[in-house]
Amino acid sequence: MIVEPTQKSSGPVIPSKDENPTIVATARTESRQAMNDDLYGGAGIGHSLPKNRFPVLEADPRRVYGLVHDELMLDGVSRMNLATFCTTWVEPEARALMEESLDKNIVDKDEYPQTAELETRCVDMLAQLWHAPNAPGVAHAVGTSTTGSSEAAMLGGLAAKFRWRARRRAAGATGSALATPNMVCGPVQVCWEKFARYFDVEIRQAPMTGDEFVLTPRQVIERCDENTIAVVVTFGQTFTGRYENVVAISEALDKLQRDTGLDIDIHLDAASGGFLAPFVEPDLVWDFRLPRVKSINASGHKMGLAPLGLGWAIWRDTDALPQDLIFNVNYLGGTMSTFNLNFSRPGGQVITQYYTFVRLGREGYRRVHTAAYDTVAHLAKEIGGFGPFTILFDGDPAQGITAVTWRLNPDQEHRFSLFDFAEKLRARGWLVPAYTLPADCEELVVQRIIVRHGFSYDMADMLLIDMRRALLALQTAPPTTPATAALNDTFNHHAVPAVRYASAASAQR
Ligand SMILES: Cc1ncc(COP(=O)(O)O)c(C=O)c1O
Repeated sequence: MIVEPTQKSSGPVIPSKDENPTIVATARTESRQAMNDDLYGGAGIGHSLPKNRFPVLEADPRRVYGLVHDELMLDGVSRMNLATFCTTWVEPEARALMEESLDKNIVDKDEYPQTAELETRCVDMLAQLWHAPNAPGVAHAVGTSTTGSSEAAMLGGLAAKFRWRARRRAAGATGSALATPNMVCGPVQVCWEKFARYFDVEIRQAPMTGDEFVLTPRQVIERCDENTIAVVVTFGQTFTGRYENVVAISEALDKLQRDTGLDIDIHLDAASGGFLAPFVEPDLVWDFRLPRVKSINASGHKMGLAPLGLGWAIWRDTDALPQDLIFNVNYLGGTMSTFNLNFSRPGGQVITQYYTFVRLGREGYRRVHTAAYDTVAHLAKEIGGFGPFTILFDGDPAQGITAVTWRLNPDQEHRFSLFDFAEKLRARGWLVPAYTLPADCEELVVQRIIVRHGFSYDMADMLLIDMRRALLALQTAPPTTPATAALNDTFNHHAVPAVRYASAASAQR
C-alpha cells in the first residue's frame, strides 16, 4: 500500500465538505462570482492548490492555470539543463505542428493515414541513413516510432530474444534449455536493466574499466554462449559520452563464430550517436554496414531534434523482426499491424520529426551538430585549463557524442567535491550533474555536460564565467566536509518517493 500524506489545506477551488449538496451549490455560486477577481486578489487567495485529494468541483481555468504555471517556476530552466540529452529548443514551425496535432493518436492509422505515411517515410529515411541493405526504396528494412529509446531498446531486445528462441528450437532445444536467455553489454543505460528484469533475460554486464570506460571485445567474448540473445553495444555511452567500438566487437564476434560456430547478433543502442555520426562523421562505420548489426534504436527526441516523446527502432530486414512480435488489429477500421509496447501515442512527434528531416536535410543536421561539437571542444579546453579537473571525454566527434566529461584531478588534493561544484552552479541556474560511475568504477565521481541544439557558444561562455566564479568560491571558502552525494533532494527523481514505500512497508508490519 502506498501511504498518502494527509491534506493540509484546501481553498474554494475545492470545498472540503464536498459531499454536502448545499455547500457544493454555494461554492459553485461563489466560484461563478469570482470570475472577475484579480488572479492574486480574489476569493481563492490564501489557500493552496489541492495536493492529494481529488477535487470535486470545477475551478476557474484562469486561476488554476496561473497557479500551476507559477508552481512550475520552481523547475529548472530546460535550456540550462546540461544533464539532459533531450530536445530543449525547437523552431516555431515545429511548435505549430505539435500544436496542430495535439489531438492525433498515431495508432489510428486508418483515421490518420497521412500521419502513418509520414512515419513510414521517416523509417525509410533512417534505414537509408543507417545503411540498411536495399535502402533507399527500402524493400526490406522495417521499423517503428516509439515513445523514446527505452521502448525502442526493449523492442530490439524482444526481437533478439524471439530470434534466439526460434534458433534454439530449430537446433532441437526444448524446456529448460529455452529458459535461460542472456544478453551481453557494458555499462548501459537503465533501460537495458529494465529490459532484462521485465522480460526475464539475464544481463551479463561487463564492468567499467578504469582505462577505457567502454565495453571491450575481450569482455564481450568472455560472456557469450549459446544462450546469448544479442550483444548490446552503446553508441554514445550515457556515463561518459564515448562510442563503444562496434567494428572491433563485431570482428571479435566473427572470430568467435569461426572458432565455435556461435553466431551472435548485435543490437546497437545509438540513442544519441545515431543522429550524430551519420552527419558529422559519415565515414565512421558503426551501423547496418556491419552484417551482424540486426537492429538499432535511437532517440528522435535527442540528437534527432524532434520534440520530447520520440524514439525509433529499425531492423536491418524483415527476417530480423519476428512475426510473433507483430499484432494485427481491425477495430480501428482497416487492418493495422502494431508492434509497440504502448498502443495510443501522440502523433505530433513523428509529424515534427518528418518536418525536421525535410527542413534540415543532411547538410542542416551536419551544421547544427558541428556547431554543438565546436561548443563542446571550447568547453573541454577551458574546463581542462581550470586546474583541478581532468577531462575524461572531450567531445571528439570520431569518439563520441556532444558531451564533455571530467573528474577531479587525481594528482591533486581537493577540499571540495564535484557535488559541491554542481551545487554552486545550480545556484546560478545551471544544471550540471555530478554522479558516480557504475561498477567497477563506482568510487569515481564525474561531471558531464551535454551540448544540444540551442546551447550556443555564447551560452557556453556565460557558463564558463559562472564555473570560474564557483571554483574560486569553493577554493577560498571550502565546505567543512566535501559532499559525497548530491546535496539537493531535487536530484532524486523518484516517481514515487522511496520514503512512501518505506512508510507503507512499516504500516504493513
Ligand atoms: C545510451 C542510451 N540509451 C537509452 C536511453 C534511454 O532513452 P530515452 O530517454 O529516449 O528512453 C538513453 C537516455 O539517455 C541513453 O543515453
